Amino acid sequence: MSLILDGNHAASAIKHKVREAIAESGTQPRLAVVLVGHDPASKIYVRNKAKDCEQCGIDSVTYVLPEDTSEEKLVELIRSLSNDDSVHGILVQLPLPKHINKDHVISAIKPEKDVDGFTKANTMAMLDGKFRFVPCTPGGIIELMRFYKIPIVGRHCVIVGRSDIVGKPMATIALWNNATTTICHSHTRNLGGICKSADILISATGRKNLIKPEFIKPNTTIIDVGMNRDKDGKLCGDCNPEAYERSSAYTPVPGGVGPMTRAMLLLNAVTAAGLKVRLDW
Ligand code: GUN
Repeated sequence: MSLILDGNHAASAIKHKVREAIAESGTQPRLAVVLVGHDPASKIYVRNKAKDCEQCGIDSVTYVLPEDTSEEKLVELIRSLSNDDSVHGILVQLPLPKHINKDHVISAIKPEKDVDGFTKANTMAMLDGKFRFVPCTPGGIIELMRFYKIPIVGRHCVIVGRSDIVGKPMATIALWNNATTTICHSHTRNLGGICKSADILISATGRKNLIKPEFIKPNTTIIDVGMNRDKDGKLCGDCNPEAYERSSAYTPVPGGVGPMTRAMLLLNAVTAAGLKVRLDW
């Protein structure tokens, strides 16, 4: 029987600690969330982030801008939020409309308010092992593994997908946790063979059924970051369901990585407000 790594359960334990830390501190953390355009998935993510903040005592303000907002206007808003002392954290929901260069926008966020950990300063700091703001999905994955006491040190962590949001930062974090780390991507040869050597397999490709049961050896932990729809319109990850059955532990979709990504944002938001939360499971 495979162990289910229940992201909702771990996330609610983190939320409890965040709520406690805020109540004890007397500080009111404030997070600004910026959404440009009408991507339906982004709208849902932003709504959920606001709900999470409210549940934990974080004051969140959402700025919804039209699809045709110019890059200049957006950068101007981010600069003004960066300079506003009442705002502790800033998140710009990605993807942005095609006419906007996301790097220009992200570089307008003050690194000390960068709750996504996407600015160059925070990316470089992380490469150096200084984890002030860890990008929310890889950060949430590591916290989920800690919560369920999944060993990392010395194990082979295979990451499928090399995005800036998940794959690349995940590899950096896995390395700093002393995993032997491999990144696979669309040009990788023998994907199945490499996956089969994984002790921890993290798939973040958005391609359903990419990870086949025969890619999984016994005692592998599967972290499925995929968010896809199957032929019946049901949410599913990157892994074939039989792949989960062969694992020793896996994250379900939904209810695995998603809630942990959201919990990590709350942790980063309170960190931006100068609070400390100890996750001593
Ligand atoms: N879009 C998908 N994932 C993320 C994330 O972690 N942060 C932001 N800002 N946008 C996203």
